[in-house]
Amino acid sequence: MKWLVLLGLVALSECIVILPLRKMKTLRETLREKNLLNNFLEERAYRLSKRDSKITIHPLKNYLDMAYVGNITIGTPPQEFRVVFDTGSADLWVPSISCVSPACYTHKTFNLHNSSSFGQTHQPISISYGPGIIQGFLGSDTVRIGNLVSLKQSFGLSQEEYGFDGAPFDGVLGLTYPSISIKGIIPIFDNLWSQGAFSEPVFAFYLNTCKPEGSVVMFGGVDHRYYKGELNWIPVSQTRYWQISMNRISMNGNVTACSRGCQALLDTRTSMIHGPTRLITNIHKLMNARHQGSEYVVSCDAVKTLPPVIFNINGIDYPLPPQAYITKAQNFCLSIFHGGTETSSPETWILGGVFLRQYFSVFDRRNDRIGLALAV
Ligand SMILES: *[C@@H]1O[C@H](CO)[C@@H](O)[C@H](O)[C@H]1NC(C)=O
Ligand SMILES: *[C@@H]1O[C@H](CO)[C@@H](O)[C@H](O)[C@H]1NC(C)=O
Ligand SMILES: *[C@@H]1O[C@H](CO)[C@@H](O)[C@H](O)[C@H]1NC(C)=O
Repeated sequence: MKWLVLLGLVALSECIVILPLRKMKTLRETLREKNLLNNFLEERAYRLSKRDSKITIHPLKNYLDMAYVGNITIGTPPQEFRVVFDTGSADLWVPSISCVSPACYTHKTFNLHNSSSFGQTHQPISISYGPGIIQGFLGSDTVRIGNLVSLKQSFGLSQEEYGFDGAPFDGVLGLTYPSISIKGIIPIFDNLWSQGAFSEPVFAFYLNTCKPEGSVVMFGGVDHRYYKGELNWIPVSQTRYWQISMNRISMNGNVTACSRGCQALLDTRTSMIHGPTRLITNIHKLMNARHQGSEYVVSCDAVKTLPPVIFNINGIDYPLPPQAYITKAQNFCLSIFHGGTETSSPETWILGGVFLRQYFSVFDRRNDRIGLALAV
């Protein structure tokens, strides 16, 4: 996530794009969707976990489509923090009361002296996020996400922060595989799993468009009310990030990128779609977009004429309509395609909020796969 860049955009874009309300499903449509369920056994497993009421649905607040933030508490008695539920990193951290950076003056800080369950390790840490970085130390304490309780959860406490000034969240809660966590720490999802917090080791995101309320992250099962049709399962290609193989990216039947296959990361902390700059430039040529500063300006009328950009993953097309990839900023429009992944080999794409608002996403740790379905 490029929070600094995004902040510029927040100032311009007040989330003016208002998509027409989708009509309510008719009974017949609902039934047809039920018949479409492709894998009965798997679906049944998830239903069972739902009936066990082991599924926790946790609300997230949408900040102008730029960040999806939820509350957690740490310590005894609990201290509350706003964190990004991030499928692009592994670690949990919040600011500490000893943090001296300007970013910490505007964010909640954890006072370890006030928590009777706190355990300190004195191990220094440093976590970097593209342009942002935090430095601090490790601690452990009771962490709660709604009714989920992770005991003796290791987490970072920042003492210095760069790149988080003005961010609408205090810290980050990482949800990738443990293989990329700092100091080999057991991430919160793994800790909850081993402490028996859920029967199915899955979590899922429903990200609402423009509206502050209504987005959720769910743990321990999948609530079918948040998507239409069937969930299509895609194997994770590398159990580090939530990474999958993509077949191609096309517009109007012409392959515009990922022509020999590529990798894609599903990342809830990133709001846009990022790819190699050279290929992003090609896509912008097709859109007649002009480069202006760090942004790409498109004619607002192009929403009516441009084709969807189609991501083909595991043989299935995931179209992204122009209403999703063009965002209105006052009296002009911007493309949400951005460069920056050219240093990764093989070709890598980051599918952020823009993609995840269209497609409800399920992250299945038992089977190392991601499920995608059209969001309601
Ligand atoms: C987080 O907690 C604050 C109050 O402590 C509340 O105003 C806010 O709505 C909560 N956010 C979510 C997403 O529930
Ligand atoms: C937390 O601890 C500080 C001293 O470190 C104290 O001043 C403050 O009142 C405490 N707050 C709570 C809620 O106990
Ligand atoms: C697709 O390719 C054909 C043939 O090269 C070209 O005529 C057409 O304009 C292309 N369409 C788009 C949207 O690029």
